[in-house]
Amino acid sequence: MNILVTGAAGMLAAEVIPELKRNGFKVFGYDVNQRLPEIQTLDITNFEHVLKAVEDIKPGYIFHLAAETDVDRSEKEPDHAFKVNAVGTENIALACQEYGIKLVYISTAGVFFGDKPEPYNEFDAPRPANIYGVSKLQGEMAVQRLLSKYFIVRAGWMVGGWEIDKKFVYKIVQQIKEGKTELRVVADKFGSPTFTKDFAGNLVALVKTGRYGLYHMTNRGSASRYDIAVKIVEYMGLKAKVTVVPINSAQFPLPAPRARSEMMHNYHLELIDLDLMPSWEESLEAYIKLNKDR
Ligand SMILES: NC(=O)c1ccc[n+]([C@@H]2O[C@H](COP(=O)([O-])OP(=O)(O)OC[C@H]3O[C@@H](n4cnc5c(N)ncnc54)[C@H](OP(=O)(O)O)[C@@H]3O)[C@@H](O)[C@H]2O)c1
Repeated sequence: MNILVTGAAGMLAAEVIPELKRNGFKVFGYDVNQRLPEIQTLDITNFEHVLKAVEDIKPGYIFHLAAETDVDRSEKEPDHAFKVNAVGTENIALACQEYGIKLVYISTAGVFFGDKPEPYNEFDAPRPANIYGVSKLQGEMAVQRLLSKYFIVRAGWMVGGWEIDKKFVYKIVQQIKEGKTELRVVADKFGSPTFTKDFAGNLVALVKTGRYGLYHMTNRGSASRYDIAVKIVEYMGLKAKVTVVPINSAQFPLPAPRARSEMMHNYHLELIDLDLMPSWEESLEAYIKLNKDR
């Protein structure tokens, strides 16, 4: 079966594409900028171009990974965030509807407001705390409105790809590599780390079951940014040299408001006995040990 992947130059696609190939699928990767030789150019906000790609490839599935993932840029440029994440996803879903293609849409814990003390499950009502979350939720709603054969899979704090990771874990690693001996890290924001390698494996296993629906998919357990930084230092073998100081998020203002909690529970996967995700500590340890001497 042919599979068209959007956002093919991104951090998650770097694990999802090889996993699809290992499972015997023929993969065609597209992204807005041709950052890799093996991918083709496609801006998902251009509906004509989306249709043309679909007509060329005739995919059985679209794995829609493309998004504006910069939370602060989304807050400052809401039109851009809505165009890519809401209208771009609507374009993909309309093309799927037109040609009878099944869709996998990757969404986010950012659809939740963050005031629930326990981790969010699929039966909790979404209520985003920032523009990025609203735009991704609008993407989910377009998929649900237009299609019946879809997977919406919400990821937590994504980790993967080492130096291509624009997010938290590599930012901490970078500070350590620069020789910092004191790291000040936010201790009042909580989430569920999601390793792209684990996610890709569980995602393809889920899709192969054909059990369409809405799923949360994060590594087991949750943590504050501070907890994760402490573990990074420990797994890098630097506990004696590097101190992690907990700070309040008010001391570290950002353009977009962040939810207090983006913790998620893979409840739906658990109920169908398909939660294959290891604990975040286990995966972080393996990830650091594999990459730290690069
Ligand atoms: N990263 C996280 O922590 C996280 C957490 C939960 C869910 N997710 C979701 O997981 C999915 C994959 O995220 P990721 O971490 O792999 O993000 P990423 O590394 O930023 O990859 C997204 C890709 O989409 C591309 N893109 C942006 N605008 C586009 C457009 N108009 N047309 C086509 N492609 C476009 C980006 O290109 P440029 O970089 O050139 O703009 C980038 O290559 C996204 O749907 C995201 O919302 C991510």
